[in-house]
Formats: sequence, C-alpha cells, structure tokens
Amino acid sequence: MQVYVYRNEEQVAKAASMIFASVISEKPDAVLGLATGSTPIPTYKRLISLNKDGYIDFSRIRTYNLDEYVGLSPEHPASYRYFMNEQLFDHINIDKNNTHVPSGLGDVEKNAEDYDAAIERAGGIDLQLLGIGHNGHIGFNEPNPRAFIYKTNIITLTQSTIDANSRMFSCSDEVPRQAISLGIGGIMSSKRIILLATGRGKSSAVRDAVKGDITPLLPASILKAHNNVQFLLDEDAACLL
Ligand code: PGA
Repeated sequence: MQVYVYRNEEQVAKAASMIFASVISEKPDAVLGLATGSTPIPTYKRLISLNKDGYIDFSRIRTYNLDEYVGLSPEHPASYRYFMNEQLFDHINIDKNNTHVPSGLGDVEKNAEDYDAAIERAGGIDLQLLGIGHNGHIGFNEPNPRAFIYKTNIITLTQSTIDANSRMFSCSDEVPRQAISLGIGGIMSSKRIILLATGRGKSSAVRDAVKGDITPLLPASILKAHNNVQFLLDEDAACLL
C-alpha cells in the first residue's frame, strides 16, 4: 500500500484525476470502478474539465459503480444512479449504455449475481476508485465478522452509515436500511485501487486501515493485501498517521 498526503482536497482530486487520465490514455476502453459520496465529487469535477478540454476521452470507457440502495429507483434523487448522472455521466462524452450501477429493485439477489458476471465479462476492473466510511467500510461492506464476502451482496447498513448518509434524505427514517454492494472480493480483484479520504472525520478509519491489522471489523484494512493500491489523503485525513 502506498500512502500519499496532499495539502487539501483539491490537491487530492488533482492527483486522482491524473491517475484516471493516465489509465485511460493507456487503455481507452478501460473498465473503471466508480464510487459515490462527497469525497469523489472534486475528482469528478476535474474529470469533467479534462474531458471538456480534450485531455480525456470517455467514448469507449465502461464503468461499474460500487453500490446502490435497495428499494430506490434510478430516478430517486438520493439513488446512486441519479448521483452518478448528475455528478459525472451527464457532463462527459460517455455512452450511458456503458455505465453500470447495481440495481436495488426487483430480485436483488439475482441482480447481485448478474453484476459480478457482467464485470467478469467486461474483463475485470482496471481502476477502482474508493472512499472510506467513518467506520472503515469500503463500498457498503460494513464492519462485521463476516464482512470479507467475495461476491456482490445485500448489506444491512449500520446506524453510523445511516446517520452519515441521512444528509441526502429529508430525514434519517427515509434512508434505506439495505444496499447492494460489490463484495470485498470484487474490489480486491481490481487491477489497481485508489482510495481517497479527506477531512478529520476519516482520520481514525484511515489510521486503522493503514496501521492496524487486517480485520473484517475494519473492512478497508484488507487493502493492505492488494499489490497495487494507493491511498490519496489530505492532511486532515492523514493527521493520525
Ligand atoms: P463520503 O462517503 O465520501 O460521503 O464521506 C464515503 C464512504 O462512505 O465510502
């Protein structure tokens, strides 16, 4: 695991967008694993600018998002499909048919199986972007003794995640209690992983992921077992290292 510390979240976004640019220039039909949440927004803004200025071409890029709430339709403003359209896909020259977000509607167990099969058919993820939860989750893989599940699966959200994500809903009762998430195995199968963390609120999860033992009680700690992972942190997120 390599750890890079930048002055602020803008510098983190700049570094992350440069990594995207280099992966895409080497492989114009790369498969990108994408994330939602507040942390990647500045990176997505930079990717939009790089696309508008002609430095990145998304026309052949394929994307697979990490997760989605169970029960939210793509049109729901708090759904992750909606987020991705708003924050990135609507502003770049990507073919929307090549963008994938797990579906939290209908037979979600079947959706989960189909999602893993689709990623495999696409040749696997070349670059996976991750955030980290305050509790150390990656994707929606929440801390619990059975967190190291290989496949895409249905997760029951912890209270800390419901509280953290309630800002996207009118009240915390509206936050779905379950989500469909790429499993730890799916994340670890990616050829390269970058994890972004900004702000003091992430500092203890970052410290435990970087310095602690590998444990399903801190799912991000598994990343130490991957041979091509970079943590891009701002000074606040790195303050306990
Ligand atoms: P955030 O979420 O970027 O909104 O803090 C990250 C995560 O929960 O993985």
